[in-house]
Amino acid sequence: MKRQIRCRLPLVIAILLFFSASLLAQQHRSVNLLQGRPLSSNLSDPDTESKIENLLKQMTLEEKVGQLVQYSVGTPTGPGTGRTGYEEMIEKGHVGSLFNLSDAKAANHYQHIAVEKSRLHIPLLYGLDVIHGYRTEFPVPLAMASTWDPEVVEVAARIAASEAAANGVRWVFSPMVDIARDARWGRIIEGEGEDPYLVSVLAKAYVRGYQGQSLRAGDGVLACPKHYVGYGAAEAGRDYNTTEISEHTLREVYFPPFYAALDAGAETIMSAFNSLNSVPASANPFTLKDVLRREWGFNGLVVSDWTSVGELIGHGVATNGKMAAYRAFSGGVDMDMESNLYHEHLVGLVKSGKVPETEIDDAVRRVLRVKFAVGLFERPYTDEKLADHGELPKENVEAARTAAERSFVLLKNDGAVLPLNSKFKTFALVGPLADDAGEMLGSWGGHSQAKDAVTLRSALVARVGADHVKYAKGGEIGKATDEQIGKAVAAAKSADVVIVALGENAPEMTGEAASRAHLDLPGRQEALLEQVAATGKPTVLLLFSGRPLTLPWAFEHVPAVLEAWYPGIQAGPALVRTLFGEAVPSGRLVVTWPRAVGQIPIYYNALSTGRPAGNADLSKPPSKGTPKFVSRYVDEANTPQFPFGFGMSYTQFHYSKPELRGEAVSAKTLSEMLRSRQEDAKPVLSVSADVTNSGKVAGEEVVQAYIRLRGTSVAEPLRKLRGFQRVRLAPGETKRVAFPLTAEAFAIWDQNNEHNVEPCEVTVWISPDSARGEAVQLEITE
Ligand code: NOJ
Repeated sequence: MKRQIRCRLPLVIAILLFFSASLLAQQHRSVNLLQGRPLSSNLSDPDTESKIENLLKQMTLEEKVGQLVQYSVGTPTGPGTGRTGYEEMIEKGHVGSLFNLSDAKAANHYQHIAVEKSRLHIPLLYGLDVIHGYRTEFPVPLAMASTWDPEVVEVAARIAASEAAANGVRWVFSPMVDIARDARWGRIIEGEGEDPYLVSVLAKAYVRGYQGQSLRAGDGVLACPKHYVGYGAAEAGRDYNTTEISEHTLREVYFPPFYAALDAGAETIMSAFNSLNSVPASANPFTLKDVLRREWGFNGLVVSDWTSVGELIGHGVATNGKMAAYRAFSGGVDMDMESNLYHEHLVGLVKSGKVPETEIDDAVRRVLRVKFAVGLFERPYTDEKLADHGELPKENVEAARTAAERSFVLLKNDGAVLPLNSKFKTFALVGPLADDAGEMLGSWGGHSQAKDAVTLRSALVARVGADHVKYAKGGEIGKATDEQIGKAVAAAKSADVVIVALGENAPEMTGEAASRAHLDLPGRQEALLEQVAATGKPTVLLLFSGRPLTLPWAFEHVPAVLEAWYPGIQAGPALVRTLFGEAVPSGRLVVTWPRAVGQIPIYYNALSTGRPAGNADLSKPPSKGTPKFVSRYVDEANTPQFPFGFGMSYTQFHYSKPELRGEAVSAKTLSEMLRSRQEDAKPVLSVSADVTNSGKVAGEEVVQAYIRLRGTSVAEPLRKLRGFQRVRLAPGETKRVAFPLTAEAFAIWDQNNEHNVEPCEVTVWISPDSARGEAVQLEITE
């Protein structure tokens, strides 16, 4: 029943009491997705600015352009250019930044040339793809996001920052905050999933972790949110492909995580490869200048992606290098990663009057400002002794294990196969991913080392003893012989329970340039699974993948399935603790899990249609008698295999119907609150529910708050996440979980692409995932 909220004084007082410290303490930091409040940089102070101006005055045009040039030295992370000889260029002041250096020694080598031999002694800024750890490898980003735990993410980023900094790296090309709705896209593994709110919260956590309290404190590294913007919407999930995204959807879905990362203090951003509405993102004045600079007020550094300046020729918006350099620079890209085209053409473009030198000066200021910010002028070198080559510190290892445990998503557990029964004495361990340390590190393993990673096999043997583990690999990821499968079946027959570790090959099938058109298990892994399961032994499937896989047979026939992603160095211990119940699964999906590739793109925050499928059973293809002219497939269910937000536990949680508390809310007041651009938006309403652990073991639940708006001038998603909290509950314990809702929670990007609150009907859920839960209604009046 709809409930209109009226203002009553005693109620207001009650609400104030209600917002007691204890309730607010559970709430994660508020997220500003406003994209309206100008960003404020804390990097510029008069002293630094005068040092920058002083340097600029002394710089030749060639030296200025040099600051805008970046090269990879070391293992390339893109198509090889064959160029070398950077020492000479550095000495002339023609290079501003390097990346992909192998270690601290290499960093110091080039830095000595820049600082001691170049005319103005300007240090180089070193970047690196520190994606989910430097040496202490954490779970891959999609898994980190599945923790729904900003603290875990922040701790991981902190550890990565300190290891990177010790190796001379002061700039990490992370976080990747591209919204991804397509599991075919290999880089879905590198991001935080499909929801703009969740990705924004985690983007902020990454930035806080990388940059620390203050960049100047010297223990942080520059974060670089990427790839601005729309890269994750590559058509057909094929990497680097074209994207078409309306301005409305950019603002509603794709911009917010970038804004959030910058709002948290990121001072650099990477422009993307893709063409966006026919204008490549690395030469897109709308996104880079109108929105990023003018609307958001970003005054930091824009770096291109790897050769994305040169790729403007491939896109067809430039016919030669000079034109590409012109389009990228005048389109808003400050620094050219790897193309060599700024080096070759920017000086000429200034001399011919095409590019004003004042614009070059501004870009150089932005480079110098971040160099000052990370203390490079005072501390250009790194202490090679700090770059630890020995054992990893215990606390890093523990942080990696905690992150892994929280990232696992229990997808199915029929008959409570998990946690494993203490009566089980012999364990068959089968599958190509049961004992492959390198694979556990996932794609973008950075400077991690396979020797640091503990496999499932070694952790299981350490726990139950070698005599109790019947290991049979059962073939490779991509191929297997009948004999290999036969040995695995024999191992299964001789054991009390079977653990099957299957999935994708991390570096080849996930990550950059690793899109897949088929999302099943590669090679003969499904045959292996079917034959092992046919032994009738209790079977647990552990999936190692960088994306959801379409495995209808497994989800129907295998009793227990745990998505393990690529868990990082502590894969084995985290999995074993989870299998035996010392760690209780609490990860939740951050991407909708399709049943079939044909359903893609499939995402929970989709719009309805004018012909919604109605109340029929949407988890099956239509049968005779179901209405025809509705939005359905004739040969597949509408619903996903598992919805966004889904994940099971070893216990059960019960939710009470949510309750709303707060004052009357009018669109006018809420819009005014939005426009006043308050730093810490005040909640106008609170929605809360009791969550009870009704099972027998303690567990953590990720309580999620969603809304839907109806009657607005633009169609709004079926649900939008507006808050979440991780709550630990002992058996039988109940906690009241409250979500304060600010004006922004109800704001939409209207028909004119303005951020407003409109009169509408609102449905609010507090639920365990995006497909369940009871709702309450309220009305936003005129
Ligand atoms: C290309 C990738 O798209 C980007 O994410 C990465 O940071 C750069 N290469 C540098 O390696």
